[in-house]
Amino acid sequence: MAQRIPEEVIEEVRHQTNIVDVIGQYVQLKKSGKNYMGLCPFHNEHSPSFSVAEDKQMYHCFGCGNGGNVFKFLQEIEGISFPEAVAKTIDLGNLTVDWSLSSQSDRSNNKEDSSHTALIQLHEKAADLFQHMLLNTKAGENAFGYLKDRGLTLEQIEQFQIGFAPKERILLQQVFKNDAVPEEKIAASGLMIQRDNGEWVDRFYQRIMFPIKNAQGKIIAFSGRLLEEETVNTKEMPKYLNSPETELFNKRTTLFNFDKARGEARKENEIILFEGFMDVISAWGVGIKHGVASMGTSLTNEQIQMIQRVTPNVLICYDGDRAGFEATHRAIQLLTDNSSLDMSIIHLPEKLDPDEYIKKYGASSFVELVHHGRETVFTFKMNYHKQGKNLDNETEKLTYIHEVIAELAKVSSIVEREMYIKQLTATFHFSEESIQQELAEHLAKNRQTRQENRETRRQEQHIEKRVVQEQQKRKIDRIEKAERILLYRTINEKAIQNQLNQLPDFSFVHDEYQEIYQHYSDYMLLNDKFEHAGFLDYLQDEQLKKVFIEVSYLELDEESSAKEIADCLKVVQLSKIEAIRRTKQAELNEAKQMGNQQRQEELTIEIINLTRAMQRNK
Ligand code: CTP
Ligand code: MN
Repeated sequence: MAQRIPEEVIEEVRHQTNIVDVIGQYVQLKKSGKNYMGLCPFHNEHSPSFSVAEDKQMYHCFGCGNGGNVFKFLQEIEGISFPEAVAKTIDLGNLTVDWSLSSQSDRSNNKEDSSHTALIQLHEKAADLFQHMLLNTKAGENAFGYLKDRGLTLEQIEQFQIGFAPKERILLQQVFKNDAVPEEKIAASGLMIQRDNGEWVDRFYQRIMFPIKNAQGKIIAFSGRLLEEETVNTKEMPKYLNSPETELFNKRTTLFNFDKARGEARKENEIILFEGFMDVISAWGVGIKHGVASMGTSLTNEQIQMIQRVTPNVLICYDGDRAGFEATHRAIQLLTDNSSLDMSIIHLPEKLDPDEYIKKYGASSFVELVHHGRETVFTFKMNYHKQGKNLDNETEKLTYIHEVIAELAKVSSIVEREMYIKQLTATFHFSEESIQQELAEHLAKNRQTRQENRETRRQEQHIEKRVVQEQQKRKIDRIEKAERILLYRTINEKAIQNQLNQLPDFSFVHDEYQEIYQHYSDYMLLNDKFEHAGFLDYLQDEQLKKVFIEVSYLELDEESSAKEIADCLKVVQLSKIEAIRRTKQAELNEAKQMGNQQRQEELTIEIINLTRAMQRNK
């Protein structure tokens, strides 16, 4: 969706929206003074530092620094683009915005969009029908009983919009006929199959239906799990049947439950990968809500990138059987090659899958395992290479040790490496030196490899993050404090803006403030009224937006006083004179070194004058 939305439309949407209503759908907000407070959805916290200002139509987290207007909020929380956020705002608020304002060039895009919308509507309708069958009809009784036996609650069934497709293959057929859905839509949806005689019948029948959603939470496909029954010959039918690939549904770019897990994963600072969506659903039922599953295939690069945009940490929790073991190994490989994600692994005992484990050992045992039963990649590899080897046999043991040391060379943390070396020497009675030596050879070999590059990348990212954090915590000095107050007053009081305008040589000391001030002046020439949320869209630069948000959130007296403004101007003025004096001082030192007598005298006089000016201004 690369379409450009006209300014007027964006403004219209902003005006028709109340940020408190939108954010209120994601965060529990409580009124506090003139603002609303809640727990920040962008970082994990226990006491609220997330503030929504209704008057300014802005939000800001004092903890993590995230902030902006309603569009920014939706972009961040949904992981969508700016145009998508505008569309989402329209959606959420049921707004009527005149899209005819869109320019001609957008038409083709819109056509594609509306085709998508129509197909999504078919899917949403189908999901409603399937769920109705499951919950309210005789045909769905067995299916409902089956789900209950598997331990699913009504809450889970509703959350995941689970349903049932009965055996007759006429449910969608009849409803779509009634609704006069055009044949090409039916064909494009993948929900039905055409018989040789031209008749369309339901693709899914005698199956428990799991809707599959895109990242925005819209249904784009289904997966149906066979429900065994005497009256139907289910022998030849696969356990799970998915929708075919359609213009909506691409397996490679879809992760089951990604729409719901994303927000949770941000808070938990990690995402969990399961093999099956029954596992995702069961884990959700015991409060572990940041799980996703790929669509019955191994992890794709697209899915890895989706994950990486949400969190730097992945927990792999595949089935405990041999296939799950192999799949874990493959996933580690894919994640290592294609991302800088940090991994840990849960290994389930007795060949159980997560769903079975929860049923057998209970919710709290599973939760405990997820929190405290993690393996590192290396421990997993140690077990992996043991497969098919008899470690009592000297040759096989040596092969094993070589393989393990090669893996050890991939462990980046020295502390971790030392720990494993101790473990290996204790278990296999090799000397620490011999292991260290072989390890050193591997390390040297690896230096040029991608693995090392990946490390560097990760370290760079760490450093970047630290810099950002330090900037966030940066101490605001006296000068900046004064600049903040001046900017705040300028924006809120016309008189102050006029006052500053009339000062012939006034400017802010720090570029950021000067730039915001200039943008503000320009904005006021174009708009008759100042709006915080609108100004945020006007400011392009992220850093400027951030400073502006911080300034907007200052807690100052209702109105400025002449003294307050005079004090701030004095601080700014002084700091400028001070800066000039410093350069003159440096020049003077230079002149002394060069032995330039005349220049020295000139500069000394200038410095004396500047010092006097400073004393006058104090
Ligand atoms: N799968 C599939 N086709 C199959 C079997 C499995 O597409 N014939 C996919 C499904 O996406 C499923 C995942 O592989 O979610 C995991 O399969 P499996 O472990 O067999 O599923 P379970 O979650 O254990 O299913 P159940 O507990 O209902 O038997
Ligand atoms: Mn299972």
